[in-house]
Amino acid sequence: MYTLTFAFLALLSSGYTVPTGSCPPFQGTFNVSVLDLYPESADWDPVHCKIYFGLYYNASVVVYDPYRQTSELITIPGITGNSDYTVTGIDYDGMGSMYFAATSLTAFQATTSGNASLANFTGPNSIIRYDTNARKISWVSDLVPIHNEILQRTGKLVTGFQDMAEDNQGNSFVIGSFGSVIVKIDRKGTPRVWYEPKNINDTLASGGIISSGNKIIINDKLYPALVTFNTDDYYGAPVYVHPEGFPANYSGGTDALVAPSVYSGRVVLWSDDFYGTRVIGTRNNWETAEYLGLAPMDSSLQSRGGFTTDSFAVGNTIYSLTEFFQTTTPIKTTKEFTMVDMTEQVDQLVRAWLVKYA
Ligand SMILES: *[C@@H]1O[C@H](CO)[C@@H](O)[C@H](O)[C@H]1NC(C)=O
Ligand SMILES: *[C@@H]1O[C@H](CO)[C@@H](O)[C@H](O)[C@H]1NC(C)=O
Ligand SMILES: *[C@@H]1O[C@H](CO)[C@@H](O)[C@H](O)[C@H]1NC(C)=O
Ligand SMILES: *[C@@H]1O[C@H](CO)[C@@H](O)[C@H](O)[C@H]1NC(C)=O
Ligand SMILES: *[C@@H]1O[C@H](CO)[C@@H](O)[C@H](O)[C@H]1NC(C)=O
Ligand SMILES: *[C@@H]1O[C@H](CO)[C@@H](O)[C@H](O)[C@H]1NC(C)=O
Repeated sequence: MYTLTFAFLALLSSGYTVPTGSCPPFQGTFNVSVLDLYPESADWDPVHCKIYFGLYYNASVVVYDPYRQTSELITIPGITGNSDYTVTGIDYDGMGSMYFAATSLTAFQATTSGNASLANFTGPNSIIRYDTNARKISWVSDLVPIHNEILQRTGKLVTGFQDMAEDNQGNSFVIGSFGSVIVKIDRKGTPRVWYEPKNINDTLASGGIISSGNKIIINDKLYPALVTFNTDDYYGAPVYVHPEGFPANYSGGTDALVAPSVYSGRVVLWSDDFYGTRVIGTRNNWETAEYLGLAPMDSSLQSRGGFTTDSFAVGNTIYSLTEFFQTTTPIKTTKEFTMVDMTEQVDQLVRAWLVKYA
C-alpha cells in the first residue's frame, strides 16, 4: 500500500519533474507587450521554446519568445485583418504542429456582450494547421460546409468550433461551442462530423477539449460534467462524468480545458471565464473525477473586466490567460497583457487532494 501511495504521490506532486524538452526554466507573472494582442488562447511549443498567442481581433497569431521578449507575427491569408474573423483556440499536438481556430466574430458576440439579440451563427469558421519546424501553414480546413450540412439535415445552426485536441495519428478533434458537435479533421485537413448530440441545442455548453491517451474530454456546463469519448470509435459516444464535489448550480463559464503535462494527464484545468480556473482530478483515467477547487482570477484583472479563457504551461510553470473582450469597435488599442503564474495555487489544490489518499 505504502509503495503504491508513494508512487502515486511522487508522480503527482510538484517535486516530480516530467521531461518537458530542453527549454530553460521559466516562471513568474509576466507582461507581453504586443499591440492589441487580446489573447483568447495560447499554447507552448516545448521544442522551439516559444509561446503561441492568438490575436483575437486581428485574427493572427504571435510566436512569442518569453526569454528574449521578442515576437513574430503569423498572418493567415484571407483571415488575418478580416473583421469577420477572430482567432480563438491555439493547440500544440505534441508532434510539431500548432493548430489555430478562426471563428466568426459574430458567433460569440451575444455571449461576450451579454446581448442575446446579437447572436448570429452564420459566419465563417476554419481550423489552421501550422508546421512549427517548416514555419508555414500546412492547411486551412473550412468548416462552413459542415455547418451547412447540419443545417440542412436538422434545421439547426451550429458554430464556434474553437478548441482542438489531437490524437497520435495526426487527427484533430474540434469542439463547436454552439451545438456541442465534435468534428474530426484528418491529417490532410478533411473534416467530418464525429459526434453530434441527439437534440442540438445552441446554448454555449462546451468550450474546451483535451486528449488523454485514447480519450478525448470536453466540458459541459449545463450538466455540469466532463464528457469523455474514445478516439478509437468511428463515431464518438459520450460518457458523462460529473466531478464529485463540483459546485451545484454551476454559474461559471465553460472555456478551455488544459491538462498540464506535469500532472501526467490526471489533472485538468477548466477555465471558467468569470471566476478563474477550476481544477479537476482523476485517479482512474477519467472514469470518475473529483473537483479539487478554484484557482481564482487575479483580483485586479477581474476588477478590470477580464475573462479567464485559457491556461497554458511553460515547462512546469502553469499560467492563467486573461482576455478583455471589446464590445465596441474600433477596439481600444493597448499593449500590456498580463500572464499570471498560478502554479502554486493549482499545486496547493492538487497536494490537498493527494493528502486525502496518503
Ligand atoms: C504589467 O503591466 C501593467 C500595466 O501596465 C502593470 O501595472 C503591471 O505592473 C505589469 N506587470 C508586470 C509583471 O510587469
Ligand atoms: C492586423 O493585421 C493586419 C493585416 O495583416 C496588419 O496590417 C496589422 O498590422 C495587424 N495589426 C496588429 C495590431 O497586429
Ligand atoms: C442589443 O443589440 C440590439 C441589436 O443590435 C440593440 O438594438 C439593443 O439596443 C442592444 N441592447 C442592449 C441592452 O445593448
Ligand atoms: C451575420 O453575420 C454575417 C457575417 O459573419 C453577415 O454577413 C450577416 O449579414 C449577419 N446577419 C445578420 C442578420 O446580422
Ligand atoms: C437549451 O438548453 C437550455 C439550458 O439547458 C434550456 O434552457 C433550453 O430550453 C434548451 N433549448 C432547447 C431548444 O431545447
Ligand atoms: C440548485 O440545485 C438544487 C439541487 O442541486 C436545485 O434544487 C435548485 O433548484 C438549484 N437552484 C437553481 C437556482 O438552479
